[in-house]
Amino acid sequence: MREKLEALKLSAEKELNAASSSQALEALRVRYLGKKGELTSILKQMGTLSAEERPVIGALANEVRRFIEDALETRSEEIAAMELENRLKAETLDVTLPGKRRHLGHKHPMSILLDEVKDIFLGMGFEIAEGPEIETTYYNFTALNTPEGHPSRDMQDTFYFSDDVLLRTQTSSVQIRVMEKRRPPIRIIAPGRVYRKDEVDATHSPMFHQVEGLVVDKGITMGDLKGTLDSLFKQIYGRDTRTRFRPHHFPFTEPSAEVDLMCFACHGTGCRVCKGEGWIEMLGCGMVHPRVLEYCGIDPDVYSGFAFGLGTDRMTMRRYKVSDMRLFFENDMRFLSQF
Ligand code: DAH
Repeated sequence: MREKLEALKLSAEKELNAASSSQALEALRVRYLGKKGELTSILKQMGTLSAEERPVIGALANEVRRFIEDALETRSEEIAAMELENRLKAETLDVTLPGKRRHLGHKHPMSILLDEVKDIFLGMGFEIAEGPEIETTYYNFTALNTPEGHPSRDMQDTFYFSDDVLLRTQTSSVQIRVMEKRRPPIRIIAPGRVYRKDEVDATHSPMFHQVEGLVVDKGITMGDLKGTLDSLFKQIYGRDTRTRFRPHHFPFTEPSAEVDLMCFACHGTGCRVCKGEGWIEMLGCGMVHPRVLEYCGIDPDVYSGFAFGLGTDRMTMRRYKVSDMRLFFENDMRFLSQF
């Protein structure tokens, strides 16, 4: 029995040292020290020993039990430390890993310019007005002194839903909607989309953007109109920007003018950008026609006003030196991310 106990001690020591997990260790504890374990089965044979041998073997058996218990405890601590170490390694957060980038978008170039235009007019005391894109011929034409039979009412030029409902061809319709509801002094701009049956090319699109302007008060003159537009263009394009007012005709203004901007590329001498003109057309404007004021119940003998309609697609093109308007609407990120 002595040999058996010595052998048990040796094999327990060896196996405990080799155990590498707490489960393996528990299995060894059961195998050596459990009720049906190896030590117990050896002790069960104590009865076969002589009276002299019994206390000696008993003492040895206790020593072996204590040895195995101590070894189990030591190994259990070692394994716990090892397992903690492994978990810490496996679960650590590597704070040096690059984070996930959140991609933030930004304003479309058209919106950047429009916001600048709005800021400038708000600074001059204007308010921002709105009107519907689906409009009646009354607001789009008739009340703007554009009688039936006028070329711009032709079915060919515009998108009609019915005889008297269409996609608005100009933001000028908002002038009427504002003047119907409000009395002077009126100072508004009305930005928005307009629609025409235009072929798509570098400077045309069937949908484009305008900013309408309207000022009605006592004593408003052409000088106010020129000063307002001059100030706008100087703020957008720089102090040295030159404008040119050219006589023109619009049914709803009298007198009417078109305004050209001195070419930013050649400063008036003529180049490819301005097609040799030296000037680039930017907008239509004029003094509000007395008949338009009358349509809206405003007495033209007491009040006068000016109005204008800017094309903001073209303004944005000039601003960012973009030579093809289609780029604004194609949603190509390689283009849009440059602004
Ligand atoms: N509505 C005109 C157009 O689309 C532009 C315009 C001209 C607007 C003169 C005005 C104006 O308010 O007074 O061509």
